[in-house]
Amino acid sequence: MNIPVKDNVSWVGKIDWELRKFHGNELSTHRGSTYNSYLIKEEKIALIDTVWGPFAKEFVRNLTREIDLEKIDYVIANHGETDHSGALPELMKQIPNTPIYCTSNAVKSLKGQYHEDWDFQVVKTGDRLNLGKKDLVFIEAPMLHWPDSMFCYLTGDNILFSNDAFGEHYASEFMFNDLVDQSELISEAMKYYANILTPFSALVEKKIKEVLTLNLPVDVICTSHGVIWRDNPKQIIETYLKWAKSYKENQITILYDTMWNGTRVMAEQIAEGIVHADKTVTVKLINVGQRDKNDAITEIFKSKAILVGSPTINKGILTAIAALLEELRGLGFKEKKAAAFGCYGWSGESVHLINDHLKAAGFSMVHDGLKVLWNPDDAGRKACFEYGEMLTKKF
Ligand code: FEO
Repeated sequence: MNIPVKDNVSWVGKIDWELRKFHGNELSTHRGSTYNSYLIKEEKIALIDTVWGPFAKEFVRNLTREIDLEKIDYVIANHGETDHSGALPELMKQIPNTPIYCTSNAVKSLKGQYHEDWDFQVVKTGDRLNLGKKDLVFIEAPMLHWPDSMFCYLTGDNILFSNDAFGEHYASEFMFNDLVDQSELISEAMKYYANILTPFSALVEKKIKEVLTLNLPVDVICTSHGVIWRDNPKQIIETYLKWAKSYKENQITILYDTMWNGTRVMAEQIAEGIVHADKTVTVKLINVGQRDKNDAITEIFKSKAILVGSPTINKGILTAIAALLEELRGLGFKEKKAAAFGCYGWSGESVHLINDHLKAAGFSMVHDGLKVLWNPDDAGRKACFEYGEMLTKKF
């Protein structure tokens, strides 16, 4: 499939309608994804990125319908991760001497994965590749989100090829931001940012400001996943700047798991207390054992504060909560408040353990936590309700 983007630039990627898990099983993709590859046919011909390995043969077959592969002068690898480079071995079998332009770190990641000694041409920020009347300008973007990542910019057409940045895992036959459901688009873009880019927020802000100081007009942003931003592309840049600054809404999210409903009852009573104390705040309850982990993280991203609850089991916490806390440690959310809760029958370590994990993950703990013995009775329920009311003032 070929989708014209602008003048001599077209999308030649793959829409992966069926994808439901990405990064192994780490990231849910409820709406599939796309692997965006772009073909630029100026006096010189450049191919930007490829697609994930399972679609390599299909990609190369389709590409041969667009262009005699021998006529491709340059391959650009903006990022070595296999969802963008996976078709390189299949492609390079056909054109083994075509140079691949990439960062020095991408040479490492590409060689490390494919063990091929292709003609790598290392580029740095500001380097230009002339395509005739237009140039490709390279901009290194380390840690957005790999050390090998880079953007490139096509002069004349004013297109920023941003690779993973500004993307979404969102399959649509309408490949442009103005043609898709706007609420689906923003929620997928937010989920992508929350789950993938949160650890690099400081770098996101710095890189965007660096690109803005170059004063390059940007008419179109061609990402490597999801839609092409052609209608007011600045909107996603501005949204990223907002998200990068310790983003939060007036939301409190209660995340818990439960064995025999004691901790669930606590969560619900705490929620009632919060709602009683503040009618303006959005309160969301998430049973982490039942709900999608990445959707839960997106709700945490939106929250000014979270409560995390688990009963005590074997002097520890339930595994769904442990997994969530480990994920939070890696993501490193900033400027969010937190508190813990949980019921217990014997030793009651869970609240203390959750506190330690949340502190290590960078949350500001506003209380030592609430423990309730066995299933909450009327007094226990009242204590939870009052805990919610009290925390609302501290959040
Ligand atoms: Fe879409 Fe970092 O790969």
